[in-house]
Amino acid sequence: MAHLRPTPLCERLGVRYPIFGFSHSPDVIVELARAGGFGVLGLAREMPDDVPQILADVEARLQGRPYGVDLMLPQNVPQQGDLAALRASLPAGHVEFVQTLRNRFDLPPSVKPSFFTTQVRSEALFERQAELVLASRATMVATAIGIRPELITRAKAAGKVTASLVGSVRHARKAMALGVEVLVAQGYDAGGHTGPVGTMSLLPQIVEAAEGLPVLGAGGVATGGQVVACLAMGAQGGWLGTLWMAAKESHTPPNLLRRLVDGRSEDTVITRAHSGKPCRVIRSPWIDAWSDEQAPEPLGMPAQQALTGDAFASMFERDDAATIYEAAGQSVFRIRGETSIHDQMQRLVAEAEAALAGLAGFAA
Ligand SMILES: Cc1cc2nc3c(=O)[nH]c(=O)nc-3n(C[C@H](O)[C@H](O)[C@H](O)COP(=O)(O)O)c2cc1C
Repeated sequence: MAHLRPTPLCERLGVRYPIFGFSHSPDVIVELARAGGFGVLGLAREMPDDVPQILADVEARLQGRPYGVDLMLPQNVPQQGDLAALRASLPAGHVEFVQTLRNRFDLPPSVKPSFFTTQVRSEALFERQAELVLASRATMVATAIGIRPELITRAKAAGKVTASLVGSVRHARKAMALGVEVLVAQGYDAGGHTGPVGTMSLLPQIVEAAEGLPVLGAGGVATGGQVVACLAMGAQGGWLGTLWMAAKESHTPPNLLRRLVDGRSEDTVITRAHSGKPCRVIRSPWIDAWSDEQAPEPLGMPAQQALTGDAFASMFERDDAATIYEAAGQSVFRIRGETSIHDQMQRLVAEAEAALAGLAGFAA
């Protein structure tokens, strides 16, 4: 029987399996840690005032087990975020289009305040988020879409391992020049913001460019065999996002889970309609409507989110069967129904060990 052993990065972080999981749900992070994986909590959608309590709760439940945090730090955002002013400056044609869609889908305003209805991605917000993650006990700080050099320097000085999601060799070189220590090679297949190169082609290029720095493979990975494939290509683990949405710990709204279960890889599409930047999501009639002939070009980031954030929040509040969508990767093929992180991890490890045993048969 072949065993899936910790890679050097796993040893550095103190985790058993080379399985890294991104999620916005604290419950997923806690269960991943209990199952021997490494959970990375996405904070890009949290209201800053809520973050200290979220992190304190996760840390109490982790009982000393390691975890990471992730921030999305796009360039070219305003210094200060003023949602009312940004909304007032949106092009009238775009506002009218969104209102027509809301009428068509009968999507009322959201009720609960949320990130999408109160915040604008801005340098001031990023600075606040950086302070909060630096004050946490998270052992890894990951950044996506962009990097801030000061955050990398300060995180390293605080003893944290720094990681960046990269979609090209150019991104990887930039991250390395800033001192980032772990590269997450995230391919076109991935859920969320993604570049044009598929994981299978991207990963070996990043491993080569990394000059020995640890690399993780992300995008389309949903089986233990694929985790082993990442290792075979020189990575120190797989980084998964979409798969966990099937776990009860993700608290995925039932109609979204249904869409993910019914969805095939080809039902995930890259659109700028969600955030203003290319982002792979599971299609819904709301997303499809942005490809209609009369639809305007989506705005940039953060304007597109100011335009559609309330509609997105409303879909989730109501679990709106017609419109609800979410970032999701081609890995959606593995979502077959509700499960748990424990069962998913057991399955991934069993599949990885079976793949390793199978490969042994090819070694002379
Ligand atoms: C719902 C969802 C939200 C995501 N949000 C972020 C994010 O805020 N920051 C980030 O670094 N990556 C984010 N990602 C990307 C993941 O970190 C990961 O790279 C990706 O999910 C891997 O591909 P997969 O979805 O095929 O597993 C998100 C992915 C999903 C599915």
